Amino acid sequence: MKIAVAKGDGIGPEIMAAVLKIFDANKVPLEYEFVDMGKWVFDKGFSNGMTPEAQHTIEELGLLFKGPMETPKGKGVKSINVTARKTWNTYANKRVFQTLHGVDTVFSKAGIPIDITIVRENIEDTYGGIEHMPTHDVALSRRFITRPGSLQVIKYAFEMAKKKGTKRITCGHKANIMKLTDGLFLECFNEVAKEYPEIKSDDVIVDDLCMKLVTRPDLFDVVVLTNLQGDIVSDLCAGLVGGLGFAPSANIGDHISIFEAVHGTAPDIAGKNIANPTALLLSGIAMLRHLGLMENAAIIENALLFTLESGVHTGDFGDKKIPAANTTEFSEAIINNFGKTPEHGAKPLLPNMPVTPTLFKLDHNSMMVSKELQHEKINGVDMFIASGEQPEFIAKKCQRHAGVKFNLVSISNRGTQVWPTGSIYTNLVNEYNVRFESIDGELNQQDIIGLYVSLSGDFKICSLELLNLWGDKKAYSLAQGQ
Ligand code: NAI
Repeated sequence: MKIAVAKGDGIGPEIMAAVLKIFDANKVPLEYEFVDMGKWVFDKGFSNGMTPEAQHTIEELGLLFKGPMETPKGKGVKSINVTARKTWNTYANKRVFQTLHGVDTVFSKAGIPIDITIVRENIEDTYGGIEHMPTHDVALSRRFITRPGSLQVIKYAFEMAKKKGTKRITCGHKANIMKLTDGLFLECFNEVAKEYPEIKSDDVIVDDLCMKLVTRPDLFDVVVLTNLQGDIVSDLCAGLVGGLGFAPSANIGDHISIFEAVHGTAPDIAGKNIANPTALLLSGIAMLRHLGLMENAAIIENALLFTLESGVHTGDFGDKKIPAANTTEFSEAIINNFGKTPEHGAKPLLPNMPVTPTLFKLDHNSMMVSKELQHEKINGVDMFIASGEQPEFIAKKCQRHAGVKFNLVSISNRGTQVWPTGSIYTNLVNEYNVRFESIDGELNQQDIIGLYVSLSGDFKICSLELLNLWGDKKAYSLAQGQ
């Protein structure tokens, strides 16, 4: 089997060399095709951080094992890590956080075991990076949460939980505030949960989840979250088990998967041969299991656990009284412990059952659309305008443009209604949302354009959003106080 390998930037080449040395010593039956991705590829002028040859190889092989990569700051280029996950639709980011004996934490000292798997949605949310500044004072980000995207990752989480024999799966969210976006994610979670009655499913608001994770982490098993919340919560979980040096990550898609550590390029220690390769090694072990290389995975994991239990450590953790091993020494200690069984968490030696990573090739982009809804209609429009004037004054001007089809129903600023009711204690910024609704029946796009043209005589219109109705259901939120 052949896989694509990108060494990465900063500590990437050092920890990748250490992990591949361990693989080679264990005669892992893999061939590596090294691909060009990362900072130096950006510097050569490839704006997406990878060469066309690298993209071709990864799409052919279906599997990428990668070191951390740096995104050049202030050059307007997007993160290669996020680009890779999004381009190849690796929609589920699985991160396993387990107590490792030999890695002391407050919980290990208190005898509280941790085994939490975070499944983070990996494509959507604010990670689209779709941002605009409608005025000099206002920056906006579009947050995409979609039904097909949410269903994909949530189904993956339930299937994974079932295979793992999980007792509990929890959805972390903020649907009390973001009723449509996080509300949709939670709705999808509840829909999928019905197909898995044998697993206890529940949901927790994300702030409460963080508090509960640091007080009773042993109560959680699998937690599924949207992208940004999942990113933050998984770093919190990394802290629970000893830090980023122990946090592996698998980006799973239907065709291509990417295995990498959670941590970054650690520029402060790069080139010193002192980085901890454990997170990348754990990611590599997860990759071996993904490829059906169960025996290699178990031997290497047992050797790693044995090494940690015996007190061998790199500088970022462990007993300070025992001198730290460097990256090379740490990986050699693991190799010397092949065949040994750790006292805690030993993995059974199952035979290798290799699988082919890429099952089939695509010849067009997959369109993911859920069932068509009936009785869709346009009920109005939100016009986002730039103005430094007072709400009452704006309302008077807007009413002149409403004509016979529209009713001016609300003006809000930063999501808080300031007209027809509001408070003079609400601070304003120079971008308003002016909401018009239909006076009588359905509107069409020409009606909206007519209003746009008329209103543009008085205001700079920064953007607009249609107010859709699905049957009786409003497909838009109300302003605070509306
Ligand atoms: P970082 O994870 O690289 O470093 C944070 C701290 O953890 C540093 O003190 C570092 O020395 C330490 N650390 C990280 N990994 C370690 C290891 N294996 N052994 C010992 N200590 C370790 O995060 P930072 O500094 O925010 O990001 C640096 C660069 O990495 C940025 O360019 C960022 O964009 C990139 N990055 C890349 C990621 C990826 O490739 N998936 C993920 C996160 C950041």
